[in-house]
Amino acid sequence: MAGLKMKPSQSWSGVTECWSSEKGKRAVTGTFQHLLEPIQIGPKTIRNRALVTAHVPGLEKDGLASEAFIAYQQARAHGGAGLQISGSASVHATGSVGAGRSLNNTKPEIVESYKRLADAIHGEGGCFLVQLGHAAASVNDQDADRPLWAPSSVASQLVREMPEVMTRSMIEEIIEAYAVATGRVKAGGLDGVEILGAFGQLPAAFLSPLTNRRDDEYGGAPENRLRFLLELIGAVRGAAGPDLIVGLRMPGDERTEGGLTQADMEAFAPQLTASGKLDYLNVVAGTNYDRIMRMEHWPPTPAPHGLYVPLAAAIKAHVDVPVFTSGRVTDPALAEEILANGHADMVGMTRAHIADPNLVRKVAQNRAADVRPCVGANLCIANATEGKSIRCLHNPEAARELEWGAQQMAEAAKRVAVIGGGPAGLEAARVAAERGHQVVLFEAGADLGGQFSLWAKAPQSTEFSRSVQWFEQQLTQLQVQVRRNTPVTADTIGDLEVDCIILATGSQPVKPPPIEGLDPGNIVLASPWEILQNPPSGQHILIIDEGGGRAGLSAADVALDQNQVTVVSTDFTVGEMVNPNIRTPLYKRLLGGGVGLRPCEDVVRAEGKTVVTRNIYSGREAQIEAVDTVVNWRGNQVVNLLSEAIERHGIPFKVIGDCRAPRHVHTAIAEGALAGRSV
Ligand SMILES: Cc1cc2nc3c(=O)[nH]c(=O)nc-3n(C[C@H](O)[C@H](O)[C@H](O)COP(=O)(O)O)c2cc1C
Ligand code: SF4
Repeated sequence: MAGLKMKPSQSWSGVTECWSSEKGKRAVTGTFQHLLEPIQIGPKTIRNRALVTAHVPGLEKDGLASEAFIAYQQARAHGGAGLQISGSASVHATGSVGAGRSLNNTKPEIVESYKRLADAIHGEGGCFLVQLGHAAASVNDQDADRPLWAPSSVASQLVREMPEVMTRSMIEEIIEAYAVATGRVKAGGLDGVEILGAFGQLPAAFLSPLTNRRDDEYGGAPENRLRFLLELIGAVRGAAGPDLIVGLRMPGDERTEGGLTQADMEAFAPQLTASGKLDYLNVVAGTNYDRIMRMEHWPPTPAPHGLYVPLAAAIKAHVDVPVFTSGRVTDPALAEEILANGHADMVGMTRAHIADPNLVRKVAQNRAADVRPCVGANLCIANATEGKSIRCLHNPEAARELEWGAQQMAEAAKRVAVIGGGPAGLEAARVAAERGHQVVLFEAGADLGGQFSLWAKAPQSTEFSRSVQWFEQQLTQLQVQVRRNTPVTADTIGDLEVDCIILATGSQPVKPPPIEGLDPGNIVLASPWEILQNPPSGQHILIIDEGGGRAGLSAADVALDQNQVTVVSTDFTVGEMVNPNIRTPLYKRLLGGGVGLRPCEDVVRAEGKTVVTRNIYSGREAQIEAVDTVVNWRGNQVVNLLSEAIERHGIPFKVIGDCRAPRHVHTAIAEGALAGRSV
């Protein structure tokens, strides 16, 4: 692989790579030689340094590796990933993450599904580990119908459930369960196991003074808190034997008051590896016992890229086994730089592989610019934490590999018109062109990207512009004719000389009901789009967020630096429809910027520049003074002015995305992909 030329870096100015010792200076010398270099991990040679760390795609069925799960993993092995690790697989009912929605290693029948998985991965030249997990009190499995087991009576902020304190015989039972689970992985022909010893899971719960308050030989002094994990590593290695990889995922720092510090972990690391039973350390940060740190181990945009590299580098200085890092490495050039600088031995690019399973293959083919970028939207994580199959905001094929099958070339090339250059239209045009059709895309405005581009104006989501840039670049490569500033009307539709039309004209904000007493001479009405496009300054902006989703909060995000902003919602929480993984950093920004959040309130009338609200539960009224602008956000409505005209002309057509029904952007992109596949 050496000698391949590297394309110009995909990095972009909206992101800071906080870890770099030489900020702004890439250590990369023009190749991806470090990323593509094989590495020995214990008994196995891994074909390159690209790691897909543990994640639950939500395709597991009844706790087993289903055909959809295998297809998902196989796609990433086919795309060239070096090492893949399953999401946390339960070893015991007292700490399972979910009996059905993740692998359940307590089931003997899992072995047969592992065998099918192993065949699929090995057939692609890949290597696959199962992550063994016991969640302690950090996750509540509603299905378990049993108490959670943990070292001490400490509840996590995530579930607030007090666990049962483990006795010595319970400790023995759990260690045995890990050994049995390892035996199942071995019998299934997979390549090894990773002990999940981070995020407040049982091994970390014993290790951390935050969660271990014991006064027996498993608690108190650091060597006592380490005992459980050392015994566990011994049992797992015993069951694995010398031919399987055994690794440990550990915090480099819990970053939580009273928890494990970087200094603690630097001291523990050599003790963990001294026996030679571990083949690698996979360094992350945080603990699920803390609400904010739970979110920050998989942070969405705009978190810095490669944010946990310094922790891996610090641990690496103390051990002689390979050390892995992960956390917002989406750009192969950044992975190359981390490796070239010797900060880690393998680089986790997990969401990057959700967004593009062919990342390594493209890099190796000198096509790094074609890698579909992960834009840090965290829809994948939102779905996973809600117990659903993951969905990727950007890549509609993720977790649909079996359902959709491989994209096929068209039998005959057609002339296809796509009307509307938002996310749905862009994906439809891209897929149709990739399949060999001759595509022309009409966009009424000057810019492509639709609402995606609007959102990208908010400081918390500027990274979304990478998606639009990627689409533009792909359409150019595929020779799609893009006609900007070219509205298609009912009168001009007949002039299109095409075989079929894909209609993707999007949506626009719902016209809100009038607010009693509101005089436009006192208070101006604006839509969130107007605020995103042209944020005013020096005003008091009141956002009525009844639309759900991200738009209302994005308008607040874009306005808060130059204005006073208040957000009112009848929901229990402002931004209730936004998953906590995404809401957490948004709240940090909004509350940090002085935005007033007023849940459970409805606006009832305006009196001059005062807006009167009413608490929907108590009925009590309150006043918001000196308001200049009201954004009355009620969601979007369809914009479809062309269906009838197209029908009249007898041109076959499909209506996709928001102009069919306004929904989440990922559904628009998915419908675009399906339309592109079906013409
Ligand atoms: C959908 C999803 C599920 C995850 N589940 C797990 C898990 O079961 N065990 C684990 O250790 N990490 C899990 N993670 C965290 C990832 O392993 C990784 O640490 C995180 O995504 C940050 O790396 P990235 O920025 O390369 O995605 C999950 C991540 C995602 C996206
Ligand atoms: S949903 Fe967002 S964060 Fe997750 S892989 Fe896709 S682009 Fe990345």
